[in-house]
Amino acid sequence: MNKLIINTVILITIFCCNHTEIIPKVGDTKTINNSELAEGFSLTEKSCFSCHSPNASIGNGIAPPMVAIKKHYIAYNTTQAEFTKELIKFINNPSEENSKIPNAIQKFNLMPKMGFSEDEITKIAAYIYNTELEKPGWFEKHYNKEKQKYSTGTNENKTPLEIGQRIAMQTKSVLGKNLLQAINKNGTENALSFCSTKAIPLTDSMALALNAKIKRVSDKNRNPNNQANAQELAYIKKSKNLMAKNLPVNPELSTTNDKKIGYYPITTNKMCMQCHGSPKIDIDYNTLAKIENIYPKDKAIGYKENELRGIWVIEMN
Ligand code: HEC
Ligand code: HEC
Repeated sequence: MNKLIINTVILITIFCCNHTEIIPKVGDTKTINNSELAEGFSLTEKSCFSCHSPNASIGNGIAPPMVAIKKHYIAYNTTQAEFTKELIKFINNPSEENSKIPNAIQKFNLMPKMGFSEDEITKIAAYIYNTELEKPGWFEKHYNKEKQKYSTGTNENKTPLEIGQRIAMQTKSVLGKNLLQAINKNGTENALSFCSTKAIPLTDSMALALNAKIKRVSDKNRNPNNQANAQELAYIKKSKNLMAKNLPVNPELSTTNDKKIGYYPITTNKMCMQCHGSPKIDIDYNTLAKIENIYPKDKAIGYKENELRGIWVIEMN
């Protein structure tokens, strides 16, 4: 069916019945409810909009605005199910072969991999698909309203494991945004200084804002402060074994007296290779020299794509 007709049907449904909460999707057997959209909005806002500005007219030069992504992924006859499938495919493995936007990677650098479950990406997809980001003036007119409408109760019914994951992804999106900005503005070698001086302070300021302790640690750490402890190493070892067998790695929660600690995998993609890949092949001479200079005991090189680079450790009360 024609998108215009679909939109008209949706509009009529919205304006003609009192149940604006539930928007029946044409061509989809499933109905979308407000709590799903609310979760989708919350996830998208906290973990995607930092790089993919919702405001098409401004953009931020770090990544294509979300509306541009929507245009490349959703044609007039694309169903929500099809879009969801494609979104899962890209987010679970941002790579050249999964890219649908010509030149996006050359222009912006490859998107870092975000560690979301399929269920969560499905909610993100529902929000992007059903929201009229592409409408002229949407941002000015609707963004703050959506924020208010969807802002309540987003942590309700969430397990500590899920809350920790959201904290990790939100922090990742802020770190990633700053990293991409630094690389694109001043090149890899200079972005290295950004990582060495800003990665930990940025993580700490997110921790303060999100009311949790946040660490990024590794068995092969670059910064000596990021060395994993015995318990963290146990999770890393287990995850590496699973990955070696091509099995999925799941986050884990450990509970002590009054604390809950969530562990979440951080995997590499091509973007990371310029600083964590093979010396001289992926990491250029000047960058390597700078790494050796700042981190004489660096262990964080020699990685390939889709390997476990480290983990997020999120400690909640
Ligand atoms: C750290 C910044 C950053 C974050 C956070 C981020 N992205 Fe991206 N994303 C990018 C960049 C840069 C590109 C363009 C290059 C590319 O295609 O990989 C991109 C491209 C994309 C594409 C198009 C890929 C293509 O080439 O076909 C999709 C879809 C996408 N992002 C979805 C998302 C969603 C959904 C989220 C939130 C869960 C998200 N992104 C979070 C930086 C980011
Ligand atoms: C511009 C170079 C650069 C790029 C690109 C880069 N990193 Fe790093 N990474 C660093 C530096 C420098 C540190 C040390 C930060 C510090 O001193 O706090 C680091 C630290 C880390 C750590 C913390 C553990 C440790 O070794 O100290 C993780 C995890 C990590 N990087 C993962 C990634 C992943 C995943 C990617 C790709 C999405 C990536 N990095 C891309 C430079 C980079």
